[in-house]
Amino acid sequence: MRKPMLAGNWKMNKTRDEAISFILAVEGKLPDSVDCVVCAPAIILRDLVKRRTTLQIGAQNMNQNDSGAYTGEISPVMLRDTEVEYVILGHSERRAYYNETNESVNAKIKKALEFDLKPIVCVGEVLEEREAGSTNAVLKEQITKGFDGVKISNPENVIVAYEPVWAIGTGKSATSEMAEDACSYIRSVLKDMYGEAISNNIRILYGGSVNTKNVNELMSMPNIDGGLVGGASLKADSFVELCNACAK
Ligand code: 13P
Repeated sequence: MRKPMLAGNWKMNKTRDEAISFILAVEGKLPDSVDCVVCAPAIILRDLVKRRTTLQIGAQNMNQNDSGAYTGEISPVMLRDTEVEYVILGHSERRAYYNETNESVNAKIKKALEFDLKPIVCVGEVLEEREAGSTNAVLKEQITKGFDGVKISNPENVIVAYEPVWAIGTGKSATSEMAEDACSYIRSVLKDMYGEAISNNIRILYGGSVNTKNVNELMSMPNIDGGLVGGASLKADSFVELCNACAK
């Protein structure tokens, strides 16, 4: 049985005060049966970790080196020191704007696991790739290169998020069938790499315009174990509603 998960990706939003108000507003309203997470801007992570209760905290990116001359970057050592549990890796915005590649994602996954951080690894096709019928080929390349040489001893600590780029921030979610097809394909690629026992315990989330209206249908799909949510995770009310929908 995979534990459902709802992770909010706040992206570059919220000041410290806004984030603390959010934490206070959701306190006591989140289901224990779901891993409820917010991935917040690095500068406020420490403030959130200090105040976390059932809500768990993650970062949105991490450098693959322990330390050194990488101006502006945050290292796995620093995230470990801050006591966050999760880190989003390979988000499509980082792939598109900050030259993140399957190779850098691969190095980051290895580092995250070395430092006991749980990676939320994002994969997904752009619209042209979907229209050209190459969605599965893109996903296969992202997964096989991203996880190349990655040893997984605790599959429940590794999360993959299928986020079709054309569905992110557009209000146009994938249909639940499209999302299920992609997530089940991702699981089959993981099965070829790691075998059934491990692939069956890796959680696969769907992300891309998830909201309180479409969440139930998406979550009813057998290979979708939760959501990675941008816009709808910013308001405490809708975040709580999304987390509770994942508990069903
Ligand atoms: P939206 O939910 O705003 O479409 O963003 C999805 C996303 O990118 C989460 O990582």
